[in-house]
Amino acid sequence: MIAFSQFQQQQIPLLEQEMTDFIDKYTANAYLKESMLYSVQSGGKRLRPLLLLAVVSSFDKKLEKKDFQAAAALEMIHTYSLIHDDLPAMDDDDLRRGKPTNHKIYGDAHAILAGDGLLTAAIQLLALSQLALDEKVLLIQLLTKAAGTEGMVSGQAGDLQGESRSLTLEELIEVHERKTGALIEFALLAGGILAEQTDAIVALLGTFAQHLGLAFQIRDDLLDVTSSEEELGKQVGRDETLNKSTYPGLLGIEGARKAFDEQMTLANEQLEAIQKNNGDFQPELLQEILKQLELQ
Ligand code: IPE
Ligand code: IPE
Ligand code: MG
Ligand code: MG
Ligand code: MG
Repeated sequence: MIAFSQFQQQQIPLLEQEMTDFIDKYTANAYLKESMLYSVQSGGKRLRPLLLLAVVSSFDKKLEKKDFQAAAALEMIHTYSLIHDDLPAMDDDDLRRGKPTNHKIYGDAHAILAGDGLLTAAIQLLALSQLALDEKVLLIQLLTKAAGTEGMVSGQAGDLQGESRSLTLEELIEVHERKTGALIEFALLAGGILAEQTDAIVALLGTFAQHLGLAFQIRDDLLDVTSSEEELGKQVGRDETLNKSTYPGLLGIEGARKAFDEQMTLANEQLEAIQKNNGDFQPELLQEILKQLELQ
């Protein structure tokens, strides 16, 4: 199995090419295209598409065009969610991925449209992809579920409502699972489906993703308190300014770290369960991804 750093170096350019080519070919308005590409090409960790591609590779499958198409659709939806999340009417952020936010360059109206464009183009990309018809319908169903009113959009609504009153821990977990966990879960489910795994394995990948997704948003909440603008490429301390309900806000830094560690342990345990179910599964890539997310 190749090391994650090498995997990342190989796959990210191919993923970025897939997104760029699609947006370039199917966006009629030149200014809209520029604003969509501005955010898509501004980097980021590419965690979600890398998870999807890593799962496929972990079952010893060669990555194909259709895998990159699914990964690109996912990253386009994630990027749209960030553009809208940063708007003045939402989190009102000026910096993203080390660059001015989309609306700071293109204005609020065009940033809204860039988000709309990326969301729609993602589904169009899946519909036009090289996936087999049954896989195509299934992935469109799962991605719209994760991104939409059962998933990310409802999570974002809950997050905003959590500014005017303090959410209970139970409510906060649900917000985090929807706003962040759902797209991460899609990455793992889609990877399992594309690697032609059984329903049982796909379900284990889903459970792994639920723990990872919650851990990832706890980590994001923690870094907003403990990290720096230079490190994250986005402003810090915003959650407190916006009076958001967060893990450190509810449990304190130590409590939030403990909750993060618990979820990461549970995620790691799922990898062992997958290995027990399918001897071909090589957990190293996913283990390395988890390792990279560990807090200092
Ligand atoms: C930021 O996501 C928003 C959250 C869901 C926490 P990432 O931390 O994955 O952002 P990028 O893609 O690396 O910029
Ligand atoms: C964002 O959560 C979740 C999304 C669906 C975009 P945050 O609002 O905490 O993400 P950052 O901190 O702005 O990246
Ligand atoms: Mg937000
Ligand atoms: Mg935000
Ligand atoms: Mg945050």
